[in-house]
This record gives sequence, structure tokens and C-alpha cells, in this order.
Amino acid sequence: MDYHLVLAGSMKATWDQVVFSFRVYSMKFSQRVHIPPSATLAMNSAAQEKKKKGETVFNLTTGEPRVPLSSFIQEGALKAMQSGKTFYTPTSGIVELREKAFEWMNINYGTHYTLENSFATNGGKYALYALFQAFLETGDEILILDPYWVSYPSMAHLAGATSKILSTTFENGWKITVSEIQNALCEKTKMLILNNGSNPTGVLYTREELKNIAKVCFENNILLVSDEVYSGLTYDDAEYVSCGEFSEFVENIVVVQSMSKNFAMSGWRVGFIFATKEIISQLSTFQGQSTSGTSSISQWAAVAAFEHSKEIMPEIKHELEMRRNIFAEKFEKIFQKKIPVPKCGLYYFIPMHFFGSVGENSLEFCMQMLDRANVAMVPGIAFGKEGYVRCSFGGEMEEIEQALENLGKVML
Ligand SMILES: Cc1ncc(COP(=O)(O)O)c(C=O)c1O
Repeated sequence: MDYHLVLAGSMKATWDQVVFSFRVYSMKFSQRVHIPPSATLAMNSAAQEKKKKGETVFNLTTGEPRVPLSSFIQEGALKAMQSGKTFYTPTSGIVELREKAFEWMNINYGTHYTLENSFATNGGKYALYALFQAFLETGDEILILDPYWVSYPSMAHLAGATSKILSTTFENGWKITVSEIQNALCEKTKMLILNNGSNPTGVLYTREELKNIAKVCFENNILLVSDEVYSGLTYDDAEYVSCGEFSEFVENIVVVQSMSKNFAMSGWRVGFIFATKEIISQLSTFQGQSTSGTSSISQWAAVAAFEHSKEIMPEIKHELEMRRNIFAEKFEKIFQKKIPVPKCGLYYFIPMHFFGSVGENSLEFCMQMLDRANVAMVPGIAFGKEGYVRCSFGGEMEEIEQALENLGKVML
């Protein structure tokens, strides 16, 4: 994909710099790291340029709940530091954390995990990276649903695998069907990655839909990696179903979790893998030879977060639900369009024509909006889908409102 072609106006220079440095430096690197720079990076660089010039940029790109850190978590971290819990920890995480994590899963999502199924990582992202590295060989195929989280195809590439992209559409509620999965299978298919509570669409699958997907993976001996990092951010009393619930298919299911979104702990870098003990044991060796596990202080902070999850999680969820609602109300008022409200996550994935755009080039549109309205959004192409932009409601309410007003002034 040549992003050169799609850049507009004064922002082109910034992107050219990104591509230039990528080309120059990548020549010295291995084939593995020949992965394209992301459109998100281009947006962020352009936004930084503006900020350097003293301009205010209203950010709708944030991938985390921007809410104050709970005092329980702060105390947990402080206590760990003051009591000398600052040395290496076991590779798979401290037992206290792994215990709290599987209990949290069992209580909230009806899973049946034990300590040996529970593994702590450097965030959900490293959990996914480790899984891709551990299971995918050169020539293997992984099924990825588009719109996808930006890192999946690059992680597949880093593992030497080929991504087979299965398209979902706005009209079909951004959902894949079992027969579409069946039709995509071939002898090289090794893994399906499913992001329930999707970034960027917020789509939630039902229990029945998930069970059918898990069954087809089991029957075809494909590993189902269920990325559930947004599970705690469900709205309108929607139910979040974890694939970990389907004990009958347990050998083929791996669940990825994280403290980043559910507990607003993105910077602490704590994530989890829940899987069979054989998988966990293999991953433990892999992690031992790569990161050695995540920070001891972060792990103790996460223990405190789990201990107070009943106080922390509803507060975050309530705040985000309010931001989500304000976003939709404000959008409708300004653009006279009702946007479909996501049931989960942090994002609206909005067709560009809802803003009044006639074009379909999402990177060009985002660059123009940054240039003219001082609003940063993520282009749909970063998620494999042209004609859309991703707007986060994870940021402060005033910033969201100001961003929409600015967009309205420019587009109407
Ligand atoms: C779908 C999805 N999966 C995984 C992650 C990784 O999150 P973290 O590494 O912060 O746990 C993210 C972060 O944005 C995400 O959106």
C-alpha cells in the first residue's frame, strides 16, 4: 500500500519524512521488520508538528480511557515499592496476580480457569505477539477480520505468517459468519483472531455466535485467539461473553486480557493469557527468553486493582458511557445524522459521508481535518477499511465536544 499517493497539502512533508526514515533505516534491518509504518503514526507525527508550532490539537485518537488512576492502584504500587517488591518476578507473573486474574475471569465471565491456566504478560499486545510467535510458522495462514486492530497483520508478518483478511461490513453489523470462516479455511490455516468488543467497531458477538465460531475452530483444529481486552467496557447493560466459557473447546481457545482498558492502566503494561497448561508452560519459556515478564510494581498495582475491581470498574464504565452518549448527541446535533452507538469499547467507526465528505480516502480526510479543524482522528485504512474514520471517546469530555464543533465548522 503506497500511502504517498493519499497524502494531502501541508501534511505531506511529515508523512514523507516518516516514509523516508523507514526506507533508509529499514535497508539495514532484516526482512522481518519490513512492515509498513502505520497511518496512526502519520497522524500522530502530523499532530505533534502542529503542537510544536503552538497550536491546540483536539485529539480523537486516544486508545485508552483517560480517567484518573484509582487511589487503590496507586497505593498498591507504592506499597510494593516501599516493601522492596522491586526485583525480578517469576517469568509467568507473581502467583498473587495470576490467582486474582483467573478468579476475576471465573467470577465475571463464567470461565473455569485455575492457576496453571493463567499467565501475566507485558500488556495484551505482548500476549498477542508471544502467541503469534509461538504458534505461527513461515507459510502458515491466520484469519483476520477486517476492520482489524492495526497490529494484527504486522504481528502475523513478524511471525512469518500470511494474513488472510475476511471482510465484514457496516450493513452486516461488522460480524463474520461461520460459513464465511468455513469458506476461508485451507490446509495452511492455523489461527483465527477474534476481537470481541472490537477496536474499531465496538461490535459484540452473542453467546451463540461465539460458540459456533469456537466449534468450527475446534473441529478444524485451528487455534482461536480471543482478544477480549475491552470486555469490561460494555454499555446499555450489554452482556460480554468470553470464549473462555466454552469448556468443551478449551484446547483450541486462548483468551487475551489486559489491565489497560478495563482498569485504565495502559501505561502499567499488564496483560494476560488464559489457556491450557501446556500452552502456558510453552509461553512461559518464550517469555523467559524475551521480556522476563512485566514490571514487579505494575504486577502489584494490578493485584490491588483486582482486589478493588468492584469499585474501580463501574466508575470507569460509567464515565465512558457518558462520554459515548455525549459524543452521539453532539454528533447528531451538528451533522444531523444518528451514528450507530457502540455497545462496547472506546470508539466510533464512522462513515466519512456522515461528516459530509464526498471522497473515500480516509487518510487524506484525516490529514485535512487535522490541518483545517485541528482535530486528530484515525483513518479507516489503518484498520483495513477505506471510507471510515475512527473517533475515540476515551478522552476528556470537553475535548470531544470541541473536536466535534471544529469538525462541524469546517465541513458544514
Ligand atoms: C484490540 C486490542 N487488542 C490489544 C490491545 C493491546 O493493549 P495493551 O497492550 O495495552 O494491553 C489493544 C490496544 O489498543 C487493542 O485495541
